[in-house]
Amino acid sequence: MVILAIESSCDDTSAAVMRDGVLLSNVTASQAVHEAYGGVVPELASRAHQQNIVPVVDQALKRAGVATNELSAIAFTRGPGLMGSLLVGVSFAKGMAASLNIPMIEVNHLQGHVLAHFVKTPEGNERAPEFPFLCLLVSGGNSQIILVRAYNDMEIIGQTIDDAAGEAIDKCSKVMGLGYPGGPIIDRLARKGNPEAFHFARPSIKGYDYSFSGLKTSFLYQLRDWMATDGDFIEHHKEDLAASLEATIVDILMHKLLKAARDLKIRQVAVAGGVSANTGLRNAFREYADKYHWDIFVPPFSFTTDNAAMIAAAATFKYADHDFCSMDKPAFARVEA
Ligand code: KG4
Repeated sequence: MVILAIESSCDDTSAAVMRDGVLLSNVTASQAVHEAYGGVVPELASRAHQQNIVPVVDQALKRAGVATNELSAIAFTRGPGLMGSLLVGVSFAKGMAASLNIPMIEVNHLQGHVLAHFVKTPEGNERAPEFPFLCLLVSGGNSQIILVRAYNDMEIIGQTIDDAAGEAIDKCSKVMGLGYPGGPIIDRLARKGNPEAFHFARPSIKGYDYSFSGLKTSFLYQLRDWMATDGDFIEHHKEDLAASLEATIVDILMHKLLKAARDLKIRQVAVAGGVSANTGLRNAFREYADKYHWDIFVPPFSFTTDNAAMIAAAATFKYADHDFCSMDKPAFARVEA
């Protein structure tokens, strides 16, 4: 079973080749064009995908040493994501599958992130979680606690009611004038700062849901007051500001995750999505593992942000169940079409 997987839901064009669940290649072209705008510009993203898709797929096949006539199926991200971006990957996958006369496998982008924990590399050192497990999915658009009963049975038991964690970090970084995306910049500064230096509003939301907009607003208002008395406040305190902001967000994320793990009596706990690259969050996972005897699963950096390897891993499960998709299935931006 050789699967070619394509991911194009946001601003990364990615293709991966997987043979019997083992990753042979994973090629990703990121789009620098958005940096000048401080955020992803959808129209520019779809145009860049159009330019990238052919060379990225070509590279993925070459690096894997696989010819198109060896492919068993083509997997693709059908949604959710930016419609224009998705359309490029979906149309390409359909065209290629039709020309090779092989089946297609659709993958939900968020389920792909969760199933990134099942990517096996040729070295084979990785350990996959056993079902059921809990997964904290934290990205620029999502903050969710997911109960994963099986590869195709996932229940979102908690999620943000407003901003996502990554979005809050990116917005705070933007008002500090630090650049985009803010996550990696805040991470780097936070390593040199004092996480106790500043205190920001914490949400009090029932159940397992999250909220980050109050924290973001309190960060903005306090910053405005401090800047009014000291115009160089950000320059003087950016490390402490970053460390305190990161610590607060990590604490909010972990607190609800602990509550869910305790209530459901689940000790296998995974993290996925772009924000799982964050050093503070990774450290917190290790601390909780020691303290609460969790068995934790933290993906390698290359599988935290958008990538086609995770789409290939999800497709490997589906292929075994002959769960193929027909040519008429459209891309979907938000809810299942
Ligand atoms: O999953 P992802 O690549 O895609 C989207 O949801 O778009 O997540 C991107 C998010 C951004 O908000 C980015 O700032 C954040 O992940 N991020 C980080 C780090 N690296 C990326 N946040 C905190 N620390 C990091 N090291």
